[in-house]
Amino acid sequence: MLPKLFLLAATALLSINAQTTSAPAAAAAGTPFAFKETYPSGGSKPTPKPEWMALIKSANITNAPVVKASANGPVQSGSADPYCDWTFTGCTRPDDIVACPKGQWGITYDDGPTAFSGKLYDFLDTTQQKSTLFMIGGQVVAFPDLVTRAYKSGHELAMHTWSHSYLTTETNEQIVAELMWTATAIKEVTGVTPRFYRPPYGDIDDRVRSIGHALGFTPVIWNHDTDDWKVAEDKTFDEKWIDGNATKWASEAASATEGGISLEHDLYQKTVDAAIRILPTLQKAYKVTTVGQCVGQASYKEGGANTTTVAPSASSSSSAAPKASSSSSSAANSGAVSPAGASASAASAKTESGASRASISSAVLVLGASAAYMLL
Ligand SMILES: *[C@@H]1O[C@H](CO)[C@@H](O)[C@H](O)[C@H]1NC(C)=O
Ligand SMILES: *[C@@H]1O[C@H](CO)[C@@H](O)[C@H](O)[C@H]1NC(C)=O
Ligand SMILES: *[C@@H]1O[C@H](CO)[C@@H](O)[C@H](O)[C@H]1NC(C)=O
Ligand SMILES: [Zn+2]
Repeated sequence: MLPKLFLLAATALLSINAQTTSAPAAAAAGTPFAFKETYPSGGSKPTPKPEWMALIKSANITNAPVVKASANGPVQSGSADPYCDWTFTGCTRPDDIVACPKGQWGITYDDGPTAFSGKLYDFLDTTQQKSTLFMIGGQVVAFPDLVTRAYKSGHELAMHTWSHSYLTTETNEQIVAELMWTATAIKEVTGVTPRFYRPPYGDIDDRVRSIGHALGFTPVIWNHDTDDWKVAEDKTFDEKWIDGNATKWASEAASATEGGISLEHDLYQKTVDAAIRILPTLQKAYKVTTVGQCVGQASYKEGGANTTTVAPSASSSSSAAPKASSSSSSAANSGAVSPAGASASAASAKTESGASRASISSAVLVLGASAAYMLL
């Protein structure tokens, strides 16, 4: 399974202006989220803070070589697979999350938030559908209001690294930095620390797994790939194939031995449009949930067990708080969850008002001219 490498031609990413649809309820409404942390630039390969390296110092990190990288991604040497490298052999370990149980479907969207995410979030809200969002760290810093919105809608926020690189080709230090900078950005905006990460391109081996594990993170791969990103990057790709595959997967629900986790992207207008088209097809055939919900694992480090739809903030009593998407009682939810510290409350106050909505405008954030994302 050698993933193809594609460059995102655009070097400008879109940004949003937070706007209110009515008079601001508070003076802070519309004020951009102010990060306290100084983050690496979006898309760059970050370096870790020393205290993050201390976290893995006494951990059992698999002593596998850093995989060589070419312009087309990792380069396999030999045919043996001693370190369970997914890119080369599709190998997974028991702790990797690859599928949901039979009858269930984990719906996931990668590479956001982007200027197109708001449209997807709007649609998901109309059907009360919760999803797992694998966010790129630099995008979190570029679009904090969308992060807040996704969190308050009850989506499960998860990590997709900082630079979207092949993790097996990075050093231990770089992998720590990829995960921890992204976790730090999400935590700063929401007050919670994600537990799940999706390695870009699914590129993971035992060394990457052991580092993620030492930091308290669980990898999520997929077992159904829409190839949706090709609609924007591959002229020979027929977008109807996305719908065709979704219909096929739906028809397999009864006979399949396990459920699904799909790979989609809120990266382009066309991938968001496809995501909106195929969701009802999947919903008719499966119980569509977040990944954490279908596997019974907590979304956040602060959330305790079995809490994939967390209330965002103990002090936030606004109607924007997510409702439990399952039949579990609110008492069970509130009992299990106390994710928000003072910082989350502050973040909420700064970025959210009942009447405010993130309104997408146009290209604002310009990455360095050499920052070409490699995306999957
Ligand atoms: C470290 O991990 C390796 C591979 O998973 C395992 O074989 C070894 O026993 C572990 N060592 C310790 C001290 O836990
Ligand atoms: C599923 O997608 C692949 C390309 O990713 C395509 O070749 C195939 O025809 C699609 N299947 C259906 C049933 O549309
Ligand atoms: C809830 O979490 C516990 C561990 O804390 C686990 O044993 C149990 O299976 C989980 N329940 C569900 C429904 O996933
Ligand atoms: Zn990706």
